Amino acid sequence: MNAKDRMIIALDFPTMEAAKNLVEKIGDGATFYKVGLELFLNSKGEMIDYLASKGKKIFLDLKFHDIPNTTAMASVFAAKQNVFMFNVHASGGRKMMSKVVEEVKAVNPENIVIGVTVLTSFSAEDVEETFQSKLSLAELALNWAKLGKTAGLDGVVCSPWEAKLIKEACGKDFKTVCPGVRPRWSATNDQERIMTPKDAIINGCDFLVIGRPITKNEDPANAAKLVATEIEEGMKEAGLC
Ligand code: C5P
Repeated sequence: MNAKDRMIIALDFPTMEAAKNLVEKIGDGATFYKVGLELFLNSKGEMIDYLASKGKKIFLDLKFHDIPNTTAMASVFAAKQNVFMFNVHASGGRKMMSKVVEEVKAVNPENIVIGVTVLTSFSAEDVEETFQSKLSLAELALNWAKLGKTAGLDGVVCSPWEAKLIKEACGKDFKTVCPGVRPRWSATNDQERIMTPKDAIINGCDFLVIGRPITKNEDPANAAKLVATEIEEGMKEAGLC
């Protein structure tokens, strides 16, 4: 995998027009884009077809969570679109995740199914209040990552700070998809546990999800280029290229 293809740009835009504008500005500088709930709903799903028509690869970040059958049916639909990766909540449980993997791989074995572990907005108090559990956030995240692995998921969304630990527990092929990435030259915004693109790769992240440092930059094409260069530096240092 080359450096550019480890970078997934988060299209956090309220309208399809604004998102298209960004994709056009970046041109060949990026191939992978993340479409979340806001843009998916606002564009009535059309953003997927638009990106595919431009030869782009899509990470559909809709975080499915329902009974196994309903989640699997939605997942199969996603897998039949031009989506290379999508996610489900690991808290939906092993039965839900196994059913999703089974149905999706039968339709498209190449499709990458990943799990969302603990939401970054959750505190230890939220965990206790919601799950009646005294597990730390990291313990809960690791537990759900292992459950996802047992259920056949291809990987998880996690902080770059947890990527190494998760790889150690779930194997090097278990994919880590990491937001919370900030080059030194950009603002941190509301992200707290950040890491630079280079360090994130060295720490075991397979894909970096990066939004505002690129999308809010006055020259997004150049920002994407700089991030890809930093990823390449990390890959060299980690012996990945
Ligand atoms: O702009 P920024 O680089 O912070 O965007 C990161 C993207 O990753 C956003 O779409 C955000 O919703 C997403 N994300 C995150 N933290 C998580 C899960 C997803 O920042 N734990």
